[in-house]
Amino acid sequence: MLKVLLRNASPMIRLGANVGPSSFIRSVMSRPSLNLRNISALSKTSQCLISRQNSYRALSSCSILKQATTAVKKQPAKKLINSSKQVGYWLIGTSGLVFGIVVLGGLTRLTESGLSITEWKPVAGTLPPMNEQQWLEEFAKYRESPEFQQLNSHINLDEFKFIYFMEWVHRLWGRAIGAVFVLPAIYFAVAKKTSPRVNRRVFTLASLLGLQGFIGWWMVKSGLDQEALNERKSKPTVSQYRLTTHLTTAFLLYLGMLWTGFEILKEAKWVKDPAKALSQIAKLDNPALGPFRKTSLGLLALTFVTAMSGGMVAGLDAGLIYNTFPHMGDDWIPSKRELFDNNFARKDDASDLFWRNMLENPATVQLNHRILAMTTFCAVFGMHMWVNRRKHILPKNAVRSMHAMMGVVTLQATLGIFTLLYLVPISLGSLHQAGAMALLTNALIFAAQLRKARIPMRILVGGLSTRAAPKATSKILTEAGNVAAK
Ligand code: HEM
Repeated sequence: MLKVLLRNASPMIRLGANVGPSSFIRSVMSRPSLNLRNISALSKTSQCLISRQNSYRALSSCSILKQATTAVKKQPAKKLINSSKQVGYWLIGTSGLVFGIVVLGGLTRLTESGLSITEWKPVAGTLPPMNEQQWLEEFAKYRESPEFQQLNSHINLDEFKFIYFMEWVHRLWGRAIGAVFVLPAIYFAVAKKTSPRVNRRVFTLASLLGLQGFIGWWMVKSGLDQEALNERKSKPTVSQYRLTTHLTTAFLLYLGMLWTGFEILKEAKWVKDPAKALSQIAKLDNPALGPFRKTSLGLLALTFVTAMSGGMVAGLDAGLIYNTFPHMGDDWIPSKRELFDNNFARKDDASDLFWRNMLENPATVQLNHRILAMTTFCAVFGMHMWVNRRKHILPKNAVRSMHAMMGVVTLQATLGIFTLLYLVPISLGSLHQAGAMALLTNALIFAAQLRKARIPMRILVGGLSTRAAPKATSKILTEAGNVAAK
């Protein structure tokens, strides 16, 4: 391998001229067969050169290089560093399908269709009832359910067909996402279009997708079982905990696909234009960006928690009370007695009073969502001002994302308020849910745009940028060394 590398390297290096390790790396890595084995061998080769030539002066930058390559070497050799662009487009396309199913799931809930299919048949359930006889059989099963008996006893077969159709399309869409995700994932892995890092992520996402099917049924079951409903002292609706778990998994899937997709496309762009990549990577290495990077992740987490608290509001139908804003009823907030109502405690000593009210009392759950939503709005507002003040040090696309996020959070808060004031009409409820996903997308893009380049990427781009200024390359490798040392 050493011989091959030396043969591949530029003649100047082969002659042992006094060149820095970055030029050597660039020269070798500009060859097409670029993988981690080459990089590992590269490190050995550069060490070898150093020991042979005492005149070699760039020891400090070499130790940085060694640290960086050691970090790279920890991964299995002979593997791709960056995945194909197609994989990035596929992941972003699939995340679009997840966006669609979340909105459809919201519509299914808002039209109260979610409990219309009383069985879970992963394969046979792909087909809807095909004739009148089958429809009557499905309707008969529904008539046995608590929802029909306590809330929907007035509906006829045609109305049943509508709610059944909503739930069936939701389940079918879920199956379609499974196929659109898993089959191409296998193809990309077999065709070696994905790096091991992306393979691991895709595997996690595929597992989460499978789990989501189970969670969906586990959620529906909570609304069909009369005993469970009695225990919760609830009308026939699904448990707010299970609804929020279903929503959380959907959001995690969506964000995971989007994050990985964006990362792949960004890195593909860097590989395509290494000279430009060097300046972008150097800009992202600016230490002044550190606090922005951390805050962007905090903002993403805060938006996520706010969205989850919205799921609890939706699960408890807590948007049907206190339909005023900014006041809740006659005051800013309801009384303490109402927010921490003894009726929600289940233990004799009432030791569960606090958390049960926080998660099960509709008034408290709505107040929590209001507080989190306003905190999110103020946090984005503050971040927007901060970004505007320091925009000269931030990448231009991140500044643009922040402007967009300010607009989306304003729209989302306004939609939330109108959803509440108008007692959750289907249109506003659904738009508010889509708005939450749009806000999360924006927060994710902003955080992704501020992320530093990972070490193998730095080495790869440094190697490819044969025409780039050596100073910039060595700066990037220095940073790689710093990260590796940490
Ligand atoms: C600014 C950030 C906000 C985010 C990220 C957010 C997110 C969400 C989410 C994800 C849901 C669940 C939707 C569903 O599953 O159908 C929800 C529900 C809800 N949100 Fe918000 N929300 C925000 C602001 C607000 C505000 C300011 C209000 C009003 C004061 C509000 C009122 C509601 C109501 C009433 C529901 C229940 C709707 C239903 O039953 O379908 N939201 N929110």
